[in-house]
Amino acid sequence: MKKITFGTPEEFVPSKFCDGFNYVETETTYDISKIKYKQSNRGVKLEFPLEADENIFGLGLMLHTINHTHHKLTLHVNADPKGYTGNTHAPVPFFVTNKGYGVYVDTARDTTFNCAYVKKPTLEEAEKREIDVKNGMTPMTTTDELYKTQKTNVASFLTIEIPAPGVDIYLIEGKNVGDIVAKYNMLSGGGCEVPDWGLGTMYRCYSKYTGDQVMATADYFTENNLPISIIGLEPGWQSQSYSCSYVWDKERYPDPQRVVDHLKEKGYHVNLWEHAFTCPDAPFYKEMIPHSGEYEVWGGLVPDFATKEAVDIFANYHKDNIVGMGIDGFKLDECDNSDYTNHWSFPYCSDFPSGMDGEQYHNLFGTLYCKTMLKALDGTPTFSEVRNLGALAASYPFALYSDLYHPLEFLGALTSSGTSGLLWSPEVRHADSKIEFIRRLQTVVFSAQSLINAWYCEELPWQKFDCEDEVRELLEERVKLFPRLRAAFDKYHEEGVPPVRPLILEYQDDPEVLERNDEYMFCEDLLVAPIIYWCEERDVYIPEGSWVDYWTGEPVEPGHHTVRNDKIPVYVRK
Ligand code: GAL
Repeated sequence: MKKITFGTPEEFVPSKFCDGFNYVETETTYDISKIKYKQSNRGVKLEFPLEADENIFGLGLMLHTINHTHHKLTLHVNADPKGYTGNTHAPVPFFVTNKGYGVYVDTARDTTFNCAYVKKPTLEEAEKREIDVKNGMTPMTTTDELYKTQKTNVASFLTIEIPAPGVDIYLIEGKNVGDIVAKYNMLSGGGCEVPDWGLGTMYRCYSKYTGDQVMATADYFTENNLPISIIGLEPGWQSQSYSCSYVWDKERYPDPQRVVDHLKEKGYHVNLWEHAFTCPDAPFYKEMIPHSGEYEVWGGLVPDFATKEAVDIFANYHKDNIVGMGIDGFKLDECDNSDYTNHWSFPYCSDFPSGMDGEQYHNLFGTLYCKTMLKALDGTPTFSEVRNLGALAASYPFALYSDLYHPLEFLGALTSSGTSGLLWSPEVRHADSKIEFIRRLQTVVFSAQSLINAWYCEELPWQKFDCEDEVRELLEERVKLFPRLRAAFDKYHEEGVPPVRPLILEYQDDPEVLERNDEYMFCEDLLVAPIIYWCEERDVYIPEGSWVDYWTGEPVEPGHHTVRNDKIPVYVRK
């Protein structure tokens, strides 16, 4: 691994805030003189030459594809990303190619990756070039045909634009895509450590439940042998939640300690929803004013978690008043902001007391918030949730989530998370049919964090479908996966190998997996290929090797299979 500096790097970059950051220079073979650097009024331009069959992966949580070759992505934090543009809950300026190297760009700026752009030839080159124009000669009648990438047989460039006066990059070499991703994760201190109970299923209760209703729900799970490990409370636990008071609601929770104690006595762990926008009713509101960003969000302050003061005020309040009650996890919502659903956010030109501007703070908000809450938890092990992360985030025990997506996007997010040091919860909420609920729960159970998010469901979301036995069976399946999950999380921590991985991380020489984001490797030895609920069957691709069906133990040959199955298709690599 080698750090290379171009221009004058900025002060506020992800590595500055990453406690586990452990860069150790090692010998590299990549010819660094091939990287072209230019500084202009637009900032830094870096050019990496690409080979004709070079493909680009990484760049964070992406819903639509894992292979970014021939795309332009401007990384930008957004809660409701539209299209395939680089808008995401978790942008990560790290790319890896199938040519033995990857690069982490240490910036908190919205960086543009122009992937595989071709430059004009010299006169001499023009004479030698053979462009494949097989689509270009016939008149085309659809925009899909018209704008389809015309692949050329010439080398191209990955051109990166960073709106900054300089940048450090970290060149990471490895034997394949998976090895390089693992090294990137180790650069931030390794994958997160997760307690055994965090591997179990989390049930998030209806937001308006009273403490009594929450206890009754947990008792129902116990009495009916539904293996739920964590009970999550949604906004209704607070007296005010948009923005947040961080104070229990007196009507719904007249005696919150009794509720927490009851849940704990029954063996549950407890997770509380919140976001960081601090309302005037919060006990530390006035104290926080000098340590917050320039603009309000939802009438609340935006604490500057890059300052020691804001971290201390926020973390100490939580530690003394909330964690001390027996809370062992949080769901850190809304720190991604939306550009399209009204404008609940702060401008890029905002000033923050730490000296950051709004663009930098947007890019670091989620990770700084996680760090603050780990301080509040004061060593209590957790597996929590957050809606924004970014660079160097592998070591935070927080999974990303959102309610917004189409099932294929949930699956895309799940697969792509494994390229960039992230974990994704493909949560299930309500469903319109039994098959939809069961299919979604199947993917939930075979993912890093098993989550039923019933925040707007007054009834248990499967109740109306009369399928509790099937739900129980799936939740029990999750319990059977614990030894595999334990080993996978340990490996994530110690070696950086993520528990959920697209196939490209392990089979990069197989052209079939270059684009494949609808099936994934799970734990050490499982291949999971969820069936979307409106489909009766799907094509499953099994790469080379010796495989058996997870459910039947029957051998399965490598290659394509049309699979029709009530269960989620899962295969074990021998
Ligand atoms: C959303 C979040 C949901 C739920 C809701 C409560 O932002 O994605 O899961 O927590 O807030 O208001």
